[in-house]
Amino acid sequence: MPDLVEGREAPIFAAVLAAGRGTRMRSNRAKVLHTLCGVPMVNYVISATRPLAPEKTLVVVGHQSEKVEAVLPKVTEPVLQREQRGTGDAVKVALDAIDEEEGTLLVVNGDGPLISDRTLSGLIRRHRTAGVGATLLVADVPDPTGLGRVSEDAGVVRIVEDKDASEEEKGISLVNLGLYAFELSEIRDALEETGTDNAGGELYLTDALEIIGRRSRAVTYVLENPEEATLVNDRAQLAKAEEIISRQILDSHMRNGVTVRDPNSTHIEAGVEIGRDTIVLPGSLLRGETVVGADCVIGPQSDIRDTVVEDGAAVEHSVSRGARVGAGAWVGPYSYLRAGTVLAAESKVGAYCEVKNTTVGPESKVPHLSYVGDAEIGRDVNLGAGTITANYDGKNKSRTVIEDGVFTGVNTNLIAPIRVGRGAYLGAGSTANKDIPPGKLAVGAPARVIRDSPNSGNSQTPESGRAKKNGPDGTPDEGSGEP
Ligand code: UD1
Ligand code: CA
Repeated sequence: MPDLVEGREAPIFAAVLAAGRGTRMRSNRAKVLHTLCGVPMVNYVISATRPLAPEKTLVVVGHQSEKVEAVLPKVTEPVLQREQRGTGDAVKVALDAIDEEEGTLLVVNGDGPLISDRTLSGLIRRHRTAGVGATLLVADVPDPTGLGRVSEDAGVVRIVEDKDASEEEKGISLVNLGLYAFELSEIRDALEETGTDNAGGELYLTDALEIIGRRSRAVTYVLENPEEATLVNDRAQLAKAEEIISRQILDSHMRNGVTVRDPNSTHIEAGVEIGRDTIVLPGSLLRGETVVGADCVIGPQSDIRDTVVEDGAAVEHSVSRGARVGAGAWVGPYSYLRAGTVLAAESKVGAYCEVKNTTVGPESKVPHLSYVGDAEIGRDVNLGAGTITANYDGKNKSRTVIEDGVFTGVNTNLIAPIRVGRGAYLGAGSTANKDIPPGKLAVGAPARVIRDSPNSGNSQTPESGRAKKNGPDGTPDEGSGEP
């Protein structure tokens, strides 16, 4: 915001008010910790102050202070308000952490996550151009219920709280959004004079504004974009605000070249990255630290968290947590990738599989109804339907190593710890409880070696053709010879 920075004589300080409980949320969690698209409410407000480059960004914490402090970015400085005695008291606590005599204090309520940096800088600009002691952001809203009503009487800006308002005052639709610019000396003095004679018995910041208005001058600045007036006091408002943020996130992905088939049923959290020409199909959730490459197909109905999906991969009707899906790999339908799963390029998992803490090598297939945990699977491996790693004996977890080119028949059990040697075959229904040497065919329960495997000395299994490329619409060209 160069025009602002240039014209500025005195520094800007920001105070974010976030000590309240948020009773109307009916929650065990402090209001400002409720998330919108994966990010706590208070962090949106803090982000909006960043472009102003405040000298200090003080966050007034109180209710669940430790938990709130834990989510605050490093650039902020938490200050503790021990008892929540009102917004005026909260600002006093912030002022105690500012030594300077001159400067502008930007006060932001922690429960207005939609406020933009543009509005904040407009507020400061208006404040400085007018050369006043206080500037208040106001909005004309269709439903002012619960908010402080703003009126101007003989040039003095006055705010009446909803619970203190007369019937006539309740009819006012111009409201206070909890955003102010104050000259430091003015707000310091005014708060000394502010009383607690009101319905809440609290120290109202709004009363201090009125005092400044009487003494020097206070002006209002009208909000331009009505969406930003969405404040969060209860869960219905939380949903409304999240819907707006969610739409902003989706729009920005679409502008970057991502196709979102049904924005209404798609939820992408802030911070998720998606490459161009990726298609996100209806009912999908992309959350946490997820990075999706280019030309991928996600969904329908995939729930992906903290997962890297490389270029050209597909994740259909599946759930993934903390996994990595290699380029051109195929997951689903109806599969579950758990933490530590790494699928190499062109590999395949699903339908109906669960994979945990396992690497699956290039072009290997875990195609049907399998559970693979704590395993290392080489390249060109083909697991038969219902191949299970028995990795847990009730006490310990053990590893399974399946070397390159292994082929297992349907309903194979691998009792870990175990190693199945390169190119070995396991017959249908076998239960292997000790290592299978490379190149051998073993059958039965417990599995015993009966002869060389059909592909001994050759790491290629006859069935393992390259995983097929996905079609442009995300439909896999199913290999015809696939078991
Ligand atoms: C306040 C305003 C009201 C305005 C509304 C906009 C006052 C007296 N009233 O009312 O005019 O329309 O915001 O949202 O200021 N907080 C603290 N410490 C406290 C009390 C509150 O940090 O002791 C924080 C809360 O965490 C919250 C913010 O200040 O983020 C506003 O508090 P809240 O109780 O929601 O104020 P409102 O009654 O909504
Ligand atoms: Ca409020």
